[in-house]
Amino acid sequence: MRVKSFRVLLTNSDPVSAIISISNLSKTYASGHQALKTVNLDIRKGEIFALLGPNGAGKTTLISIICGIVNPSTGTVTADGHDIVANYRAARGAIGLVPQELTTDAFESVMSTIKFSRGLFGKPPNPAYLEKILRDLSLWDKRDARIMTLSGGMKRRVMIAKALSHEPRILFLDEPTAGVDVELRHDMWNMVRGLRENGVTIILTTHYIEEAEEMADRIGVIRKGEIILVEDKHTLMRKLGKKQLTLFLKQPLAAIPPALASANLELANDGHELIYTFDNAEGESSGIGTLLQSLNAHGIAFRDLQSSQSSLEDIFVGLLKASS
Ligand SMILES: Nc1ncnc2c1ncn2[C@@H]1O[C@H](COP(=O)(O)OP(=O)(O)OP(=O)(O)O)[C@@H](O)[C@H]1O
Ligand SMILES: [Mg+2]
Repeated sequence: MRVKSFRVLLTNSDPVSAIISISNLSKTYASGHQALKTVNLDIRKGEIFALLGPNGAGKTTLISIICGIVNPSTGTVTADGHDIVANYRAARGAIGLVPQELTTDAFESVMSTIKFSRGLFGKPPNPAYLEKILRDLSLWDKRDARIMTLSGGMKRRVMIAKALSHEPRILFLDEPTAGVDVELRHDMWNMVRGLRENGVTIILTTHYIEEAEEMADRIGVIRKGEIILVEDKHTLMRKLGKKQLTLFLKQPLAAIPPALASANLELANDGHELIYTFDNAEGESSGIGTLLQSLNAHGIAFRDLQSSQSSLEDIFVGLLKASS
């Protein structure tokens, strides 16, 4: 009994999961524009968190505040237990940032840039670690190349190497794969997953919803400076996802029989296809069994069927519409 209660206590007092805590954060720029309105958000230790939102929603502003580049108007943020204002150096030391805008020292070589960056954080040299980062990012062959001679996608990867140079526990990726080709994007995703396996917490913003769908553990949606939703990715897709079952009919139908009209049924492709749409909510019956029985009773036969599920993109577009 005693051991049990001790465990519970430990779990409760462990700052569990939150490696970044954002409370009542707002930002009004000098122009008077309010880019963030009372943001409250915890990022869990070890997760990949994807922040989605349209242009101008406040994603970069939020990241810039956490990284100490932009001052908050109100509110507080702690990163790895350190207040980002009162204890800036400790907080910043725990963070790696890949900014949205490429900012590199054009004349420097790849290797000297990342060595220098590591030094800025007061870390002792670690050539083996830097070699590993460059190899993981397919940049090892380019280690002596001047950054100005690299392609846009390579420059972005140099930014990632630079952000990782001081072995941060938290990594922000602001649009990490903008301008990166499909193959390298997949390599980058694998690398990011590898970082998470090594205990790095990752927060990324992206316009490629496929990227969030592929990688994120949790998804936050920001719109006009407000976080309108934070949800586990699978829960989100289960809750808001719709499933469709398409039946390819043996004989085309001119109309859906009135007895079936109440179901979520529609005809497509000149009556050759019957589409059934249903919510994919947990614990709810899909109604497929009943549907198939009714079709049988009405003598409607099909030669094939196919099911599909709405993607995160459909969900995202629907969410933004619903909240506008
Ligand atoms: N330095 C600044 N001064 C004034 N307004 C700013 C400044 N930086 C950003 N803004 C404004 O704040 C809002 C949020 O900008 P932010 O860059 O955070 O958006 P974002 O979500 O990152 O957009 P994107 O997807 O285009 O990168 C925008 O309306 C932008 O014009
Ligand atoms: Mg941005």
